[in-house]
Amino acid sequence: MAPSRSLWLSLAALLATTEVCNAQPGSAQASGPAPGGGGGSGGGAPTQQQMSTLAAAFNQDILLNSDLYSPVPEILSGALGFTNIIGVANLDRDTVRAANGTWRANVTCTNGQPPPTRVLTSAATMVWTGGFNCTAKNYDGLPVCFSWPVLPSTISPGAITVTLSNGTKMQPPCIGISPNLEFNERHCVVLFGKMGNRLPASDPNSLFVSAVEVTKGSGFKLVGPKGSVSAEGLKFTNPSGKGPYDSGNGPYIMRAKLSELSGVGEGISLPPFASQVAFPNDGIALYGDYNNSLGPDGLRMRLRLFYSGGMTPDGVKAFQPEDFAEHFYILASTDDGVVQTVRIEMPGEEYTLGGGTVMVVGMADTGRKQEEYDDCYQEDYDNYLDVIIDASDRWTAALLGSATVEAFRTDEGYAPLYNPGGPGNDPVPGVVYSSPSPHQSVPISLALDDPATITYCSLGGKTTRDPKVCTQMLAAAQAAAPPMAAPGMAMPGTPAPAPA
Ligand SMILES: *[C@@H]1O[C@H](CO)[C@@H](O)[C@H](O)[C@H]1NC(C)=O
Ligand SMILES: *[C@@H]1O[C@H](CO)[C@@H](O)[C@H](O)[C@H]1NC(C)=O
Ligand SMILES: *[C@@H]1O[C@H](CO)[C@@H](O)[C@H](O)[C@H]1NC(C)=O
Ligand SMILES: *[C@@H]1O[C@H](CO)[C@@H](O)[C@H](O)[C@H]1NC(C)=O
Ligand SMILES: *[C@@H]1O[C@H](CO)[C@@H](O)[C@H](O)[C@H]1NC(C)=O
Repeated sequence: MAPSRSLWLSLAALLATTEVCNAQPGSAQASGPAPGGGGGSGGGAPTQQQMSTLAAAFNQDILLNSDLYSPVPEILSGALGFTNIIGVANLDRDTVRAANGTWRANVTCTNGQPPPTRVLTSAATMVWTGGFNCTAKNYDGLPVCFSWPVLPSTISPGAITVTLSNGTKMQPPCIGISPNLEFNERHCVVLFGKMGNRLPASDPNSLFVSAVEVTKGSGFKLVGPKGSVSAEGLKFTNPSGKGPYDSGNGPYIMRAKLSELSGVGEGISLPPFASQVAFPNDGIALYGDYNNSLGPDGLRMRLRLFYSGGMTPDGVKAFQPEDFAEHFYILASTDDGVVQTVRIEMPGEEYTLGGGTVMVVGMADTGRKQEEYDDCYQEDYDNYLDVIIDASDRWTAALLGSATVEAFRTDEGYAPLYNPGGPGNDPVPGVVYSSPSPHQSVPISLALDDPATITYCSLGGKTTRDPKVCTQMLAAAQAAAPPMAAPGMAMPGTPAPAPA
């Protein structure tokens, strides 16, 4: 149901005063994709209806070239990420630190502007501007990730039932698809509520999330190869039996999927007022199409890392396109009588694999391409990072199907990554921050011949599963979207069609 024009105008005015859609790099971006988004200190309080209207706009059913990470619908992760920093009273250093959030020190921007709040902290004052349909007060964050994309219009406040480690079941008050907003993403919902504390699992008063389940009767759906399917009853039990502040229990990679690089489904342009500060950020936007770097038979690929919770170098500082070699290498091998092992380590270097060559170009699904990257760089803070890789031919590319991504090998000098509860660069002594990612060896799954993706696009009362038709429908909806009301800010004068 399309909301009334007056409701949209009031919402637009409210969003303007909360600086939600400030998309100018370098200026004080307030909201940004949550978690960790949300948050100018100004602005009035939204009504329940305004929050719901905005949530419905975020939850439009637009899935375009979105990956299937398994042959069956399942929950791949569902553990508590961090506590207490969503819905702080104000975004200043003292208030955030009082809530045991972190605040980065000595951040200067090469453009001379004051640092955007988002590069200083992952705490947020509010999350309704990211489509979470709630007001938050010192809430904790819980991403729940599925093997198939979520049908966003079926997201509702009670969709996920959480079992806490003390046995109590509850339904967190905030749920949304942000920051997994791109049309080829949308596999994770993020929930905010009171679900834990920072005591170690060995402490009798420790509280964290033990299991998550899609609530029976909630109508929550995923989309697979044959269309939408009910996800009710899908369950995930916390495999470690520990919380995010216990060592070894940081965010982890669930899948590493290798596809040909494509721009289809990149972008978050609907709703038009969502922050665009980190977009475009796909492999083509950052590095272009394949450019014969490894010869005329070569190809450019996207190795998509799909992980359980935001991954940044310290919990706040953005992951940057040039960061591959800090955290990862690829371990490949060939066997023509003698097994040969190849460590693919440095971006821009060619590695011989079998009879051909491969090269890591750089990372994508970060933020925008820039001439240089400083501490004020912002990314999309979601559940995906792409390694862009060139191969000299398809046969050599396919050899990566028996390779692994070696991630966060701190034992070999590589650095881990943190979810938004991480320590920043200036942690307060005595405060406990969420744990780093454990080191992992993740098998690469090949999707070069069969891309294993789906499209399900419902706009203006019409539904299609054809990527070309969906792309056209999106372009039309974007063309009809309201004009920019202020530099860098689009306003929702005419809403994009609400979900069917
Ligand atoms: C927002 O939350 C309210 C109150 O729980 C609920 O009635 C409404 O359906 C929700 N809207 C959306 C789009 O989830
Ligand atoms: C912050 O952490 C300290 C040290 O663990 C603890 O004593 C304090 O209660 C925490 N404050 C909040 C608001 O959680
Ligand atoms: C478990 O913890 C939650 C959150 O603190 C609390 O509301 C609930 O009553 C507790 N349950 C039990 C059985 O102690
Ligand atoms: C091809 O693109 C990569 C990534 O942008 C770049 O490093 C390389 O110099 C380019 N090579 C050629 C031959 O243009
Ligand atoms: C910030 O700068 C001050 C002054 O140079 C220095 O004492 C402090 O250690 C720095 N903090 C961090 C986290 O770099």
